[in-house]
Amino acid sequence: MNPIEIDESKCTKCSSCIDDCPNNCLYLEGETVKASEKGCMECGHCYAICPKGAISMVNYDCADEPAVSMTEIDSDMLLGAMKSRRTIRKFKPQPVEDEKIMKILEAGRYSPTGANSQNVSYTILASRQDEAEEICLKLFRRSQKVGSPLSSFLKRIDIDDNFFFKGAPLVIVVSSKSNVDGGLASSYMEIMAESLGLGVLYSGFFVMCTKLSRKLRNLLELEKGHDVVSCMVIGYPNVKYQRIVPRKDLKMKKL
Ligand SMILES: Cc1cc2nc3c(=O)[nH]c(=O)nc-3n(C[C@H](O)[C@H](O)[C@H](O)COP(=O)(O)O)c2cc1C
Repeated sequence: MNPIEIDESKCTKCSSCIDDCPNNCLYLEGETVKASEKGCMECGHCYAICPKGAISMVNYDCADEPAVSMTEIDSDMLLGAMKSRRTIRKFKPQPVEDEKIMKILEAGRYSPTGANSQNVSYTILASRQDEAEEICLKLFRRSQKVGSPLSSFLKRIDIDDNFFFKGAPLVIVVSSKSNVDGGLASSYMEIMAESLGLGVLYSGFFVMCTKLSRKLRNLLELEKGHDVVSCMVIGYPNVKYQRIVPRKDLKMKKL
């Protein structure tokens, strides 16, 4: 069912919603804008574009929050800050405030998803963080001993007790059916975390463990069809970087 509702008393038939609908779900019937029953992906473009606020969406919170243009953010500042972002592996024990956690999650919630599936989930390890790390530690330490491509790599690294979460106070596991959707959400969240004075480590090793351990997957209580896309280890950084790192040359071609 199409959730779009149009308040005829407010609608001026300007057609901006009809023109912007990516799936051509809106049309004029005589003097009335109508929403077709099928094809709506609930992206909310019609809601966002209506100059009169005539559109609402059933089962959604239509809070009428004004749009903020990215141009409000200085692009040189933004690029400088993005280039200055570093993976953080040393954290202060200080906990992350709930308001900050909610802002990070909100950034993920508003990232784009294919066909607007919005099918990305976030699991805060909280009371089970130590238990999850313990499962990973056992798995990696055991794998160090067994002859496998993973073991030859693991033999070269020191797996200390904080190997996966670095003693950080917050771990958010991002899961989805789509690696792209989950990855984009993670990236939005990382930028938000940085802007809140927090640092982030993507624990790829944790993600690896979720592929290898059923016990860990059970602990995470993943939704059906979801896989872990990223594990975001978050906290106040206990390290300060003075300059932007060098990078390999840009790989770009113009066809
Ligand atoms: C998907 C992904 C997984 C990663 N996994 C780990 C990890 O398990 N442990 C770790 O110490 N760093 C991990 N990193 C951090 C990378 O090593 C880091 O991004 C890279 O060295 C560049 O450093 P920078 O992020 O400070 O620019 C991961 C990064 C990404 C994007």
